[in-house]
Amino acid sequence: MSAQATSWLKLRVEVDPHNREAVANFLFELGCCGCEERESELVAYFPEARSVPDVRREVAAYLTRLPALGLGRSRILAVERVEARDWNAEWRKHFKPVWVSPEIAVKPSWVPLQARQDVLVIEVDPKQAFGTGAHETTQLMLRLLEAYVRGGEAVLDVGTGTGILAIAAVRLGAKRAVALDKDEVAAEAAQENVEKNGVSPRVHVFAGELDALSPDARFDLILANLDKRTILQLLDRLGGLLVQNGLLMLSGILVEELHRVEGAVGTASRKQKKKRVEQGEWAALVLKKKGGKMSKRRLAAIDVGTNTALLLVADVSPEGEI
Ligand SMILES: C[S@@+](CC[C@H](N)C(=O)[O-])C[C@H]1O[C@@H](n2cnc3c(N)ncnc32)[C@H](O)[C@@H]1O
Repeated sequence: MSAQATSWLKLRVEVDPHNREAVANFLFELGCCGCEERESELVAYFPEARSVPDVRREVAAYLTRLPALGLGRSRILAVERVEARDWNAEWRKHFKPVWVSPEIAVKPSWVPLQARQDVLVIEVDPKQAFGTGAHETTQLMLRLLEAYVRGGEAVLDVGTGTGILAIAAVRLGAKRAVALDKDEVAAEAAQENVEKNGVSPRVHVFAGELDALSPDARFDLILANLDKRTILQLLDRLGGLLVQNGLLMLSGILVEELHRVEGAVGTASRKQKKKRVEQGEWAALVLKKKGGKMSKRRLAAIDVGTNTALLLVADVSPEGEI
């Protein structure tokens, strides 16, 4: 494992409900490792290697473009260096149990939660990793897992963060999961969470990227809650890692950017795009790998907290062309 960071760059940005998600998404694309949502601001943390003037300049340049995109004005409140231990203290203060659905809750280990026996309670201590269950992109994936895991699947979780999705998948019945993250600190947190949830025999966590997988590795279900740019980069390789009829679940995509991803899998449609924009900000895609022609698409709305996100189920073809 690499040495732990001794400091972080902390950025506070004033946001309103109309631009909150767009700004958060931009911050993740810029390399932010974690983003706390407060009432009218976002608090984002960047690795210590990032310089204060660079982050200030890039964020300011983005914020000036918001009005032209039809989004509300936003401004930087502060950019500063903080000691790394502040990070954990901040999370501990703000991380509360989250009910993702009536059947799934996520909680930090230090907070008790009263829940029925049949509720899946996932314990996550995020440390410096993404994946507390509070973010809509994670919630979408958890809801999808609830809907799609049948039992017995081999799962790949790309960008596992805290390990939350891999843990949920096996606790919902998947046979085994490989959970990887390019960030060593996240992989370390994921390993601890996997052990805490008693699933370590079935979840293999490692720090690395797709190229570290064996060339023969194939999965029934691949989970990727990343950002649009990374998804576009990895799409072909993810398709190649799926078995025939396997499912690829993608999250971390803003509805306004979804056409880019759909375009890459050949499923874009004006009508659907319009409907999506009307119904919510975040989208998740479920793609099914299938030989032969593209088959019928189904569009359904699922509620995620106060947002409604959309779920597009599409069959893609031919093999290897996801
Ligand atoms: C948005 S977080 C998702 C965490 C968790 N899976 C969830 O759904 O809450 C994305 C994670 O992907 C990791 N990541 C980004 N690009 C990656 C890549 N090419 N390979 C592996 N991990 C990657 C990041 O380090 C980060 O931990």
